Amino acid sequence: MAIKIEAFDTRKHYRSNFSCGKDSLDNYIHKQASQDIKRRVSTVFVLIDNSDPTLNILAYYTLSAYTVEITELDQSLSKQLPRYPQLPATLLGRLAVDNTQKGKRFGELMLVDALKKAIAVSSQVASLAVIVEALDESAVNFYLKYGFQQFKQNSMKLYLPKKSIKDIF
Ligand SMILES: CC(C)(COP(=O)(O)OP(=O)(O)OC[C@H]1O[C@@H](n2cnc3c(N)ncnc32)[C@H](O)[C@@H]1OP(=O)(O)O)[C@@H](O)C(=O)NCCC(=O)NCCS
Repeated sequence: MAIKIEAFDTRKHYRSNFSCGKDSLDNYIHKQASQDIKRRVSTVFVLIDNSDPTLNILAYYTLSAYTVEITELDQSLSKQLPRYPQLPATLLGRLAVDNTQKGKRFGELMLVDALKKAIAVSSQVASLAVIVEALDESAVNFYLKYGFQQFKQNSMKLYLPKKSIKDIF
């Protein structure tokens, strides 16, 4: 295997075989991702195996700029912040691994890559945390494992403060 993470390119990467078991995430990469890239709504990064002539997508994630309401954040974080009603963040909107590739640490690899990109960009455009929206309890548990914290009013939405991201590395 010669795996690589790169920006999704519909002319190069084969998306139709991708299946992670969640229809919304499968439909997104099949039908919506290229539109979102064109309209600059999200960036989409894919994991591929360069030794696979078809260049099937093995995993993908999306990143976008985002804002969080200060009232949504845990007091331990919000008390250190200025009382602006909205604060800048980075949204890791989707993260999915193909069913044939699960359990090979590709989910972790993609998450770490997304966090690295979020940190790198935040030195130019401020962002205080990475936010994820989990589809179900299983996804929540995946993110909790990496230090994400649940929002007070919505336990399916989690955030990882920038300081915690730096601690991971
Ligand atoms: C969740 C998902 C991304 C994990 O990807 P993966 O490649 O199978 O996971 P990895 O092999 O990288 O696992 C890394 C670690 O996370 C753990 N893990 C994986 N899935 C987990 C889950 N659902 N809950 C808790 N822990 C999980 C693994 O056991 C492993 O732990 P270890 O360090 O103790 O060995 C993948 O199962 C997936 O695509 N699920 C469907 C889509 C989805 O729910 N996406 C989440 C965001 S909406």
